Amino acid sequence: MDEDQAIGQAIARAAAALRAGGLVILPTETVYGLAADAANPQAVAAVYEAKGRPAFNPLIAHVADLATAQRIARFDERALRLAKRFWPGPLTLVLPVADETAVCDLARAGLDTVAVRAPGHPLAHALLQAFGGPVVAPSANRSGRPSPTTFLDAIEETGAAADQALDGGPSRIGLESTVIALLDEPRLLRPGAVVRGEIELLIGPLSEADADARRSPGRLARHYAPNLPLRLGALTPLRREAFLAFGPTPSRDQVWNLSPSRDLAEAAANLFAYLRAADRSGASGIAVAPIPDEGLGEAINDRLRRAAGFVG
Ligand code: TXA
Ligand code: MG
Repeated sequence: MDEDQAIGQAIARAAAALRAGGLVILPTETVYGLAADAANPQAVAAVYEAKGRPAFNPLIAHVADLATAQRIARFDERALRLAKRFWPGPLTLVLPVADETAVCDLARAGLDTVAVRAPGHPLAHALLQAFGGPVVAPSANRSGRPSPTTFLDAIEETGAAADQALDGGPSRIGLESTVIALLDEPRLLRPGAVVRGEIELLIGPLSEADADARRSPGRLARHYAPNLPLRLGALTPLRREAFLAFGPTPSRDQVWNLSPSRDLAEAAANLFAYLRAADRSGASGIAVAPIPDEGLGEAINDRLRRAAGFVG
């Protein structure tokens, strides 16, 4: 059997598991997800259970293409423009729901809106095509832990609840998708790999997520936290601290360099794996070098502030 056949069979097994109401560890270009049939409330309940996630925090419906997305959500002109430019890719749109059974009530946490995204990873795309309908896939971490960016981290977090698992290698981007709500004025609910400037070029200025918890439910949950205390904006580590460096730095024990060349995409791809490694190192805490807030830096700093417990 050649490699293509083996991949085809793994996809067929994963699609069958979804149809049977099972859970699948799914690689995407952002982070690994824990996938289930979006229309099946029992399967969706099993996802919340496996993550220990509060049921008021809704899930993203993943689709193979724009046509499938348009069956479940109402796209206005702005939504179409963004989807055509950035899909398949790391952008999630929160839109008015069009079909309340295709993405069940529990998956939407009872809201009349739905979050949709068409992921770019070839295995995710192949599974979504084979399955045919929308698939919920929150990040495959247990609630409150860093998102998994490698197959092994995903298995360690929620593998015990999964019926099938697809190994797609390390996540190329390493941070979760950008989430934009297009309900009234466009709002940035979660900064991510598609950066603010690229979106504003197409649809104009983005407002911040508002305080209305019904419209930004995810902001209530604690997120991305390692076990050790995190100290941000640190120029050098204290004696017993692990250090996440950014830029040229003398290499020594307990230093993980997010990007020696100060490349933000490289730093994003390394962030969660290095947080996990530093967390396991036996240090007393984790110091993190300052990261510039431009472009992808906005999403990196958002995740770091959440990990340090400053937001949500
Ligand atoms: O990159 C990603 O988006 C990954 C991969 C696996 O696709 N998935 C992911 O899912 O990060 P999750 O469940 O960890 O994060 C989904 C975010 C949460 O902050 C949630 O509150 C928000 O999207 N969200 C989902 N539905 C929403 C809705 N109807 N209104 C507002 N926010 C919503
Ligand atoms: Mg998550």
